[in-house]
Amino acid sequence: MTHLGDPTPGSDTRLPPRAWLRSDAPVQSLDGDWAFLLHDADPGDDLDGPPPFAAVDADVSAWDRIPVPSHWGLHGHGHPTYTNIRYPFPLDPPHVPDANPTGDHRRTFDWHPSFCPDGRTLLRFEGVESLATVWLNGTEIGWFTGSRLMTEFDVTDHLVDGENVLAVRVHQWSAASYLEDQDQWWLPGIFRSVSLQGRPADGLDDVFVRGDRDPATGVGTLDVRPRGGWPVTVTVLELGIHETWASEGAVVPLQIDAVDAWTPETPRLYDVEVSTDAETVRLRVGFRRIEIAGDRLLADGRPLIFRGVNRHETDPDRGRVFDEDYVRGELELMRQHNITAIRTAHQPPHPRVLELADEIGFWVVLECDLETHGFWDVEWTGNPADDPAWRDACLDRVRRTVERDKNHASVVMWSLGNESGTGRNLAEMAGWIRERDDSRPIHYEGDYGGAYTDVYSRMYPTMEEIASVCGDQTMAVHEIGPAEGARQRAKPFVLCEFAHAMGNGPGSLADYERMVEQYPRLHGGFVWEWRDHGIRTRTADGTEFFAYGGDFGEPVHDGVYLMDGLVLSDGTPSPGLGELAAVWAPVTLEHVSGRSWRVRNRQHSLCTDHLDLRWRVEDDGIRVADGALPAPILSPGAETVIELPAAGIPDATGERWITLEAVWRDAPAWGAAGHVVSRAQVQVNAAPPRPARAAAGGWRGDALGDAVFDRRGALVRWRDLEVSGPLPELWRAPTENDQLDGQGSYETADPALTNGRGDESTPASSVRWLERGLDRLQHRVLSVERTEQGLVQRVRSMAAHSAQGIETTFAWRLDGDGLRLHTDIRPFGPWDCTWPRVGARIGLPGALADEPARWYGTGPAESYSDSAEAAYVGRFEAAVDELGVAYGRPQETGHRPGLRALDLGPLHLRAVASGSTGLPGFQLDRHTAQERTGVAHAHELPPSQGLWLYLDAAQHGLGSRACGPDVLPRHALWPRAVSWTVVFE
Ligand code: GAL
Repeated sequence: MTHLGDPTPGSDTRLPPRAWLRSDAPVQSLDGDWAFLLHDADPGDDLDGPPPFAAVDADVSAWDRIPVPSHWGLHGHGHPTYTNIRYPFPLDPPHVPDANPTGDHRRTFDWHPSFCPDGRTLLRFEGVESLATVWLNGTEIGWFTGSRLMTEFDVTDHLVDGENVLAVRVHQWSAASYLEDQDQWWLPGIFRSVSLQGRPADGLDDVFVRGDRDPATGVGTLDVRPRGGWPVTVTVLELGIHETWASEGAVVPLQIDAVDAWTPETPRLYDVEVSTDAETVRLRVGFRRIEIAGDRLLADGRPLIFRGVNRHETDPDRGRVFDEDYVRGELELMRQHNITAIRTAHQPPHPRVLELADEIGFWVVLECDLETHGFWDVEWTGNPADDPAWRDACLDRVRRTVERDKNHASVVMWSLGNESGTGRNLAEMAGWIRERDDSRPIHYEGDYGGAYTDVYSRMYPTMEEIASVCGDQTMAVHEIGPAEGARQRAKPFVLCEFAHAMGNGPGSLADYERMVEQYPRLHGGFVWEWRDHGIRTRTADGTEFFAYGGDFGEPVHDGVYLMDGLVLSDGTPSPGLGELAAVWAPVTLEHVSGRSWRVRNRQHSLCTDHLDLRWRVEDDGIRVADGALPAPILSPGAETVIELPAAGIPDATGERWITLEAVWRDAPAWGAAGHVVSRAQVQVNAAPPRPARAAAGGWRGDALGDAVFDRRGALVRWRDLEVSGPLPELWRAPTENDQLDGQGSYETADPALTNGRGDESTPASSVRWLERGLDRLQHRVLSVERTEQGLVQRVRSMAAHSAQGIETTFAWRLDGDGLRLHTDIRPFGPWDCTWPRVGARIGLPGALADEPARWYGTGPAESYSDSAEAAYVGRFEAAVDELGVAYGRPQETGHRPGLRALDLGPLHLRAVASGSTGLPGFQLDRHTAQERTGVAHAHELPPSQGLWLYLDAAQHGLGSRACGPDVLPRHALWPRAVSWTVVFE
């Protein structure tokens, strides 16, 4: 009998939930190769008893094989489905359609009573999406839901000595799917391990261990609550603890005179052994106290600031199947980028992730597997988070979440779930947690009135809203009464999601960090999100690409909205991740004056004695002096001013920059010695003006020196290179933040007039840009004037049926340095929108794309006005194809402002700043911005027609409007006159 429409979990043959423990009791893995058959629809052959495939003598020799753990959609059976908010089935709770993909799994295994003599044998499932019914040797054992939660059955009485037959039917959809509407792929299957667990008589069925440390005295308390047989002995060799309790009544918390604190920066763990005569369990325990004092959240007595990411479990090949090396690599990459917190969005991860978080060091907000977001579309009518019919299901989920993961030092907050409106069941879940574990605060974003949570949490607030919450509280955000609003806002404030890292972006990370620095109530937050969810796929001709919603032909899907990570699907860090690392530097370096720099320790608990400061002096990007010194020893929160040495530094011969970096002296556990945690630069000498040198030659026919122009004044040849242009350009291929309108826009609104939320009715920037034809400028040469040693071309550029445009003057002049091009662009007419960019593009032969690009300017990665903290000035080199980022969907990428010089094969370009003329940015791309526009995947780009060099006076900022605030007004590019100069040397 299946339980598709049954919201209550189990009937209930499941065992009570317990911790995922490391025990010496016997374990037998049932992972491996299983027989598998996928039905497109629920076969319904189990209504009156076990289905035929569960019978011991059933013949499944013709079935396919599938690995367990896995998702069948990633193994050639059916396909993944992506939706964000919408349910991909009718909103008809608790029912699901008959066309319910159903995966029958079956395997045999050997078991003998010697496995666990005198004890019991449990069958454990660590994760099955979404409903599983289990038969052992033809008998139904039970059923369960709760995809990312652990379930155990006692199967002792159903096992036979010798060969046993295990059959598991997995339904893709069930009542539980209404509770699992997270923004991710729907990926059915047995995707975590299956095992037999021996339970010795008088063993330890469960242990709840908490380590507390009084931050004032350093005194520790070890609170161990065993469940199972007695007596129980607790041993912590390092602390000299060896305590035996005869019975539950004898259990007392153990006091320790002095323990080290566990924090992400000092992930100090103690080995704890808990044993009975029959079983020993080993845990690694950290001691720390998480507490709320007024509107402050404290860990070990000091403010706990979340510099975190939302981490979904996603792997381009395995989906949500755990792989230790992959996850360790992810966590180390996080730490290498100054990320010290994780919200387990939006479900408990594989339990081993939490052991790694304990060991590598993260503050973890552990979220229950609950989201009912689709009910938002029906004004939350029938929302399971509020409906008593779903009470047990909700409580079951939170119980299984907390019980499984309760022993981890890294877990500092429980989160009830995500985007499930609000309601009674959420309140009851919170109540249950408070009874069970009062050592961790409770989080849930939707509790705007503060009825049942301990922190005030928001996603994607504007700067104005943050300032209001932390300041005068004048901005009304939700429809809640003033008293409730005030109650919730008196609590510590956390941004459970902010800075939507979709495509190129997010912008304004530094602006958010300034708010965290400014407002003690604001305890940081979690960037949305860690990684793109693209699934590695191939086109018919074998071209690899990363699939997103709709690529598997799903009729209802949310497209590219799950490609919103700081790390691309294949693990490549995006420039946004580099930006985050710069913004979250644990130690800040700030030039004060002369040789003085301010060093500030922003770490929670580490002093700076593990760091060295490295400095270098560069003239025109060439190092002329460098050195290293130990960092000043600063306790957390402290700062001081240091002086860099003066001796041995030659006089400046060009543009001089001094760069200071803080680096790890010895290798941290998650990185290499010399790892840079912070970098700052100061320019101390400008490039000396170069006296103009007279040109050797002049015009010879159409040639001016090494340049050839056509009759319209366009450059057609430079030395041996066939070139074209320059052509004025205002277009960039829209980013996701340009294309979407998650929140209001400042583009047509004064933030003060729209209560800081921007104008919600303003369409996405790219919609406005397209309406005004910025992608399809038509050009008209107004005049071409030859001078003695130069040429001046004036061009007017406007879109069809528009009255506004730009007028560009390209002024060429041959001098002793080469061919100088001064570009001047001026807007005219009734402009009423921002510009994506303002610049010009020059066509180059495609073969040049095979030459490495070497430049002196900003780098190493792309940067934009609201995402420029990671960029610094120096000399860099990269393959042309590596200058841009392979975002999930082709879009603007690769802009590097502040160009001084660019070498590309025979092309040598120097930019000259003079007076009000700034340095241009550059970009090299095999495709034009127009070609990149509207293309779903990189392999769908048209064949390249050459290489395009863009020189831009400016680009519009990035913002976060795909799911957050628009580009802030000061980073917006409004029509304005610009000019710049480059020399073809
Ligand atoms: C939030 C949600 C996340 C994700 C994000 C957009 O509202 O909690 O799960 O959907 O928006 O990418």
